[in-house]
Amino acid sequence: MPPSFPMPMNSQPPRMLRLKDGLKDGLGRAITYLRISVTEQCNLACVYCKPRTGAQERAEPPAMSRNELVQIAQVFTSLGIRKVRLTGGEPLMRRDLETIVAGISPEVEGRVHLTTNGIHLARRARGLRDAGLCGVNVSLDAAERGSFERLTRKDGLSRVLAGIEAARSAGLKTKLNAVVLKGWNEDQIVPLARLAQTEGIQVRFIEFMPYQDNGWGRDQFMPAGEILRIAQEGLGTSLEEEPVVGLEEGPARIFKLAGSEGKVGVISTLSADFCDRCNRVRLTSRGELKACLFGNKPVDLLEPLRNHASHEDLARLVRQALTEKLDCHPMRRGEAPVLSSGMWQVGG
Ligand code: 5AD
Repeated sequence: MPPSFPMPMNSQPPRMLRLKDGLKDGLGRAITYLRISVTEQCNLACVYCKPRTGAQERAEPPAMSRNELVQIAQVFTSLGIRKVRLTGGEPLMRRDLETIVAGISPEVEGRVHLTTNGIHLARRARGLRDAGLCGVNVSLDAAERGSFERLTRKDGLSRVLAGIEAARSAGLKTKLNAVVLKGWNEDQIVPLARLAQTEGIQVRFIEFMPYQDNGWGRDQFMPAGEILRIAQEGLGTSLEEEPVVGLEEGPARIFKLAGSEGKVGVISTLSADFCDRCNRVRLTSRGELKACLFGNKPVDLLEPLRNHASHEDLARLVRQALTEKLDCHPMRRGEAPVLSSGMWQVGG
């Protein structure tokens, strides 16, 4: 009989071992960044996000409970994920978001970020910070009230601006994201860049990405180069590019704004060539792992968890799914995206 050692209650390996092991995909890419959609629900109806062909959001979409969410997140962090972003849907639709942040934050040494539309941010920024949140990206696609309402179908610009202000004064790292749709908000590129300049904040323009039923069309797609040209001409200055530091913040090119702490950036999901440095995976609010946003079929982790799979069982499922992570998203090869659900389901 081998000597029996007392087993620790918590079966996770110690943190030092976890980091040394790291999490690699089948192509040897280090996977360090997890995006978790915490809900499919949203209080805006942005033209580029909501399906326009009548596909209905379920009234009560099945979502992970906060305990399930934190448990699954711990599987990833134990394997080597070092940064987590909570997305949606609109994450602030969940009343227990602070508890979720508090559960995950210690696992990633405080590197928990949030992507939000900012509507409810003003009254929750401090609480989220106190729970261990590090930063927020606020989605803001227009700097003018009418344009904001046309895009989001809600008269909410002043609430979002108040949310941004509250996040900054709570000490959260705060950035703005703007999706650019030709024919909808290209006239907001310059006002948003000016907002970045006067407020000393970073605004990143995102190329409009296609997925099922979101009405994507070539005629609405504006490539990053054109966005930059419009910003540059409107501001009347040439923009100075900053060196790319890492992929932690995604495939963005960032430019300094003269006489300001503010910056503008462009995120070229479609036109840029960054898949070979991809470091991210996604977890949907239904508890499915998506190894590639536009590729790889979802792998269910919630059902096994509910059927009492152990931490190790789940870790095995994650590792297995990552061996199959695609080398690049299918559109780079001219193929259709493998995205049977909308961005509000997978997490933006
Ligand atoms: N294309 C580009 N960005 C999108 N987002 C949502 N849908 C799309 C799309 N079709 C963005 C949101 C938010 C982030 C979560 O993803 O505006 O900034």
